[in-house]
Amino acid sequence: AWKTHYLDWEIKNATFTRNCHTVTVATVNGKFPGPTVEINEGDTLVIKVTNKQIYPVTMHWHGIRQFQTNYADGPAHITQCPIQTGGSYIYEFTVNAQSGTFFYHAHIDWLRATVHGALIVHPRKKLPPTYGKIEREIPIIIGEWFGIAANEYEKSFLNTFLPNEAATTVTPTLNGFPGPKYNCSKGAQVFKVEKKKTYLLRIINAALNNDYWFSVANHQLTVVGADGNYLKPFTITYLPLLPGQTTDVLVHTNQKPGKYYFGVNVGPVPLVGLPPPRIPALAMFEYEEARSSASPVTPRFPNNVTLRPLDQYVKKLRAYGESTMTLPRKVHKDLVYTIGTAWVDCIASEPCVQKIMGQIQNITFQDPQHTSILQAYASGANGVYKTNFPDHPPSLKLNLTAPDPHYRNGTRDTRVKMLNFGDTVRIVFQNVFAAGILDHPVHLHGHDFYVVGRGYGIFDPAKDPKSYNLRNPPAYNTFGVPNGGWVAIQFFANNPGVWLLHCHFERHKSWGMEMVFITKNGRGKSQRLLGPKHPLPKCT
Ligand code: C2O
Ligand code: CU
Repeated sequence: AWKTHYLDWEIKNATFTRNCHTVTVATVNGKFPGPTVEINEGDTLVIKVTNKQIYPVTMHWHGIRQFQTNYADGPAHITQCPIQTGGSYIYEFTVNAQSGTFFYHAHIDWLRATVHGALIVHPRKKLPPTYGKIEREIPIIIGEWFGIAANEYEKSFLNTFLPNEAATTVTPTLNGFPGPKYNCSKGAQVFKVEKKKTYLLRIINAALNNDYWFSVANHQLTVVGADGNYLKPFTITYLPLLPGQTTDVLVHTNQKPGKYYFGVNVGPVPLVGLPPPRIPALAMFEYEEARSSASPVTPRFPNNVTLRPLDQYVKKLRAYGESTMTLPRKVHKDLVYTIGTAWVDCIASEPCVQKIMGQIQNITFQDPQHTSILQAYASGANGVYKTNFPDHPPSLKLNLTAPDPHYRNGTRDTRVKMLNFGDTVRIVFQNVFAAGILDHPVHLHGHDFYVVGRGYGIFDPAKDPKSYNLRNPPAYNTFGVPNGGWVAIQFFANNPGVWLLHCHFERHKSWGMEMVFITKNGRGKSQRLLGPKHPLPKCT
């Protein structure tokens, strides 16, 4: 039987010390990370979110499709106005036809640094046999601790523009703790395990600004799923995770009984000016059978100066068996979007560093200020957004090593791309910079997408589509656009409403690296956008 879960959440301040920095931060019910939500596929969540701290807030259910519940999706000024201090909003939605590892997080400014937690959906059907017999499931949330409240950090970051600073001055955390390699951090979190068993790790990268490698000392990882979709299993030593991605891995406790650290370190993409591996966040697996005097083994991480481990990983990704979604061959909307950073409003006064902005299709997305796009769309209000988001860049003659002058003067605008219900949409994202900058984790709200192709250099529309995997491509809701390269994704526009697409690096998102799709209603009753189930926060 399906259940309805009623939760009462207060977004309120709490004080924690991590890596010797004592900071008062916004949390869900005083916890960092927030409480784990565990439900069954088919269940309904009714979560009342009350704002008891100074920053306006909204909540997003990352990876949940929100079919016909667009008003519960959460991105500020996209599907709702923010909940002001003292206010509340009830998010109500049913999780149908999807299961796996998800998370929730605040979707405004940089509040998600500490306002986030695991959202686990157990499948209605049994797990595929590839999971085997699982002794225990362990959710692991990768987070980051700033020396100051994240929203203050955001302000100084946006004002001073230090492109890599946000990535370097943070302390990584596992379930809220940096572990033994950091000062002022008590011993490691210890997870007791038994030998010769299988543990399912549900790993979530909720970090704001860094991608990470995950690894377990002396143990191999069997990858079985990601972003709420099963994968054809494969075994690896190091697991890459971009912000916004989740991965399910099996760990077999087949080593000598002992103590084994596991954890994360910065990677996998070499960021300009960043030295390879810094200090990892660690936790520990301790075999029940281990001697108490055993000294813990520390995991290794790949060297960041080469992309090879990441590319090898991506090449292994295949959907498990039959995909949960259909993969239509006919493409109705064939789109090419450039993605990167550029200077806006500069007009020949370079370097003009104060005005660097994030862009998709050379446009810096401007949030509407006193409404949301969904409310404007539903009410037919004029003048809030334009529907002329371009399908293609003016040219793909890019110089990736020295950004094309075209990419030096973008525009700011609020433009959306309209879709018809039932469209198959294919997008090639072309990263406009060469290797050495970053993979942009593009995240699409309201849908999963197939990753049908990926390559380096400039996308060649005559040649590259021949290499697409249209048979068993993996499905994700967040995937990296490789630095110096491109990725091709495909999704089915079967979810009427307003859906944000953005880079899941928070600093890029706050620079405007986002855009919006609006899928029109279909003909059938079940193909229509429904109104809000609960009174929306007032727009001010
Ligand atoms: Cu996880 Cu739009 O976000
Ligand atoms: Cu980005």
